[in-house]
Amino acid sequence: MKKPVVFCAVNKLAVSEEMFSLLNEKTELIYLDKKVSNNELVDMIGDAEGLLMLGHRIDKRLLDAAPKLKAVSTLSVGFDSFDIEEMKRHGVVGLNTPDVLNDTVADLIVALMFGVGRRICELDNMVRQGQWKNRPFYMNFGHELSHKKLGIIGMGRIGETLARKVIAGFNMKVSYFNRTRKKAVEEELGVNYLTKDDLLKDSEYIVVIAPLTEETRGMIGKREFSLMRNDAIFINAGRGPVVDENALIEALQNKQIFGAGLDVFEKEPISEDHPLTKIPNIILLPHIGSITVECREAMARVAVQGLIDYLNGKTPANLIPFFKE
Ligand code: GLV
Repeated sequence: MKKPVVFCAVNKLAVSEEMFSLLNEKTELIYLDKKVSNNELVDMIGDAEGLLMLGHRIDKRLLDAAPKLKAVSTLSVGFDSFDIEEMKRHGVVGLNTPDVLNDTVADLIVALMFGVGRRICELDNMVRQGQWKNRPFYMNFGHELSHKKLGIIGMGRIGETLARKVIAGFNMKVSYFNRTRKKAVEEELGVNYLTKDDLLKDSEYIVVIAPLTEETRGMIGKREFSLMRNDAIFINAGRGPVVDENALIEALQNKQIFGAGLDVFEKEPISEDHPLTKIPNIILLPHIGSITVECREAMARVAVQGLIDYLNGKTPANLIPFFKE
């Protein structure tokens, strides 16, 4: 049987050795041994029926250049670079990597909550710079996690996993705000639904883990930061553009909130002279929510196997619901 033609637009190290071999075995693979740019992808996609990618724009320009394309599989749970309507018009479906990263991302969020609450990076830096000897302990006060109020903005699978962990581990009181209410989750976990404003006013820790959509873009801005408590710890581990970065910088500079932990930014990567790098109680990470050996292997398995299955006439479990009807 003729093998489907698949374009792999990411470096094979991002796919894992095992899954890259599987792609080689089961497909007619086009691979350039590097991450391919959007422009290169448009020029080279040609007759590919499947595309494995990460962060590439799947828009009209690409779709027009790929008349045989049937499926695009992203090595991520987020699929904000997909133009869903345009993909549907072209008869192309999208696959992502749900579920396998829930624990991994939730764990990193807990690390950021602790990191900012106890000022881990800031104080580590202080010790390295030889300033401990002149510094009384009361300058190092942080905030606890146990028994505190956490507000989660975006109660998807990762939000739920986070709620479960911090309730079991730290007895946190968890509230959430979400586009749709999750009554079953409320009942099962004892979490509380609040309006966005009430959640912002009440929470000691605020975690944004909402996907980027037209509805969520810029949903946390100047007004939202002004509602937060002065001891609030703000974490964004979803997508950068959900938060107005200038408003966040202003809130931190004016000490409107206690600190922030960011794994995502409006434009990635940020440079070393970005204004955020000048603020002390803030942790900046290079979008590593799912970047563990275990998780990336699992994500590659889901992305690659789903693509191969779809191109062989099966309906994989990781077909994005928008493409199901
Ligand atoms: C990471 O940001 C992902 O969407 O998987």
